[in-house]
Amino acid sequence: MKSELNRQWILAERPDGLFSEDHFTYQEAIIRPLQNEQFLVEVFYLSLDPTQRLWAETDTYLPAVEIGDVMRGLGMGVVVKSRNPAFQEGDIVQGMTGWQSHVVTDGRSFSQVPANSGLPLSVYMGPLGMTGITAYFGLLDIGRPEAGETLVVTGAAGAVGSIACQIGKIKGMNVVGLAGSDDKCQWLEKELGIDTAVNYRDSNVWQQLQQACPDGVDVVFENVGGKSLDMALGLINVGARVALCGYISGYTKEQNPGCHNLPMLISKRASIEGFLVLDYVHKSREALTDLGKWLMDGRLKYRMDIETGFKELPTAINKLFSGENNGKLLMQINKLPESP
Ligand SMILES: NC(=O)c1ccc[n+]([C@@H]2O[C@H](COP(=O)([O-])OP(=O)(O)OC[C@H]3O[C@@H](n4cnc5c(N)ncnc54)[C@H](OP(=O)(O)O)[C@@H]3O)[C@@H](O)[C@H]2O)c1
Repeated sequence: MKSELNRQWILAERPDGLFSEDHFTYQEAIIRPLQNEQFLVEVFYLSLDPTQRLWAETDTYLPAVEIGDVMRGLGMGVVVKSRNPAFQEGDIVQGMTGWQSHVVTDGRSFSQVPANSGLPLSVYMGPLGMTGITAYFGLLDIGRPEAGETLVVTGAAGAVGSIACQIGKIKGMNVVGLAGSDDKCQWLEKELGIDTAVNYRDSNVWQQLQQACPDGVDVVFENVGGKSLDMALGLINVGARVALCGYISGYTKEQNPGCHNLPMLISKRASIEGFLVLDYVHKSREALTDLGKWLMDGRLKYRMDIETGFKELPTAINKLFSGENNGKLLMQINKLPESP
């Protein structure tokens, strides 16, 4: 076993607004010897996700991270020592590693990543990982899109939103995205080929949205909540479906804007349904087959935003809340393994 220490970020205090270093304690711990069935992973990518802000504060679909525990998070790494016959040295794995450089595990929350596909490993933490699966089932299962219908995606240039937009196009929809900068809007229209991207920071955003949806809105893929959701609800058609994927504008107490247009669901006999990607993990092969095919034939594009460092984790995650991230936000904390 390498004589390295395990670098860890421990949750020290529950956040109220955005994360800061004060909410965490940095520590270096001895890596404990392996028991039977265990293996040691050297983590190289950590996924930074909006939901981690909720996990640090309160019980959600998972119990809140305990004060004093390693911050919870998804990661990818290489097996460097194993006493588990299902996981060999050199295997690339992903799972709940937490914010630490090494993890000893029995493999229960871990799965192998195809290391020789020719694709960058980061793709399996983005479009061919939880991000892609979320967009796929959220749009197809909850949104139930039909060709010719209009789809509005909020947080459209983000990791999940950008995949949802493109699946909407693949299904023949008029796709309208809301994003927070002109650069992001340009990328959505010019590179991803959506019909209209609207900068929600523009003063005439409501007029632009109305123009982009002349036949109303049939499906909303909601990542943001608050004002964006209000505007989308203001345009829904009879029988519209709102797939509630996320509500990032309400994840910190300092933001939390509420939503006022819910009565539109009554007059339009429309539905709103929250969903969790965790409930679809057993069907992930179905999503990954389609997403992989679309990626290979060029119909699915993506952006990864890969930061490096370890000490920077508590502040880097705030890029998700300021909109500074461009695509799926990852932190690279160790060297990537050399390809075999
Ligand atoms: N249901 C599930 O199972 C599931 C799984 C994964 C993710 N999610 C949810 O999906 C959403 C997107 O997650 P992601 O990982 O793909 O992150 P992301 O969209 O790549 O990054 C977050 C983006 O949200 C936008 N944003 C942040 N604060 C905002 C505000 N107050 N108003 C408007 N926009 C704001 C920013 O984009 P702009 O620059 O455009 O403002 C930012 O880039 C989140 O709500 C997340 O919780 C749900």
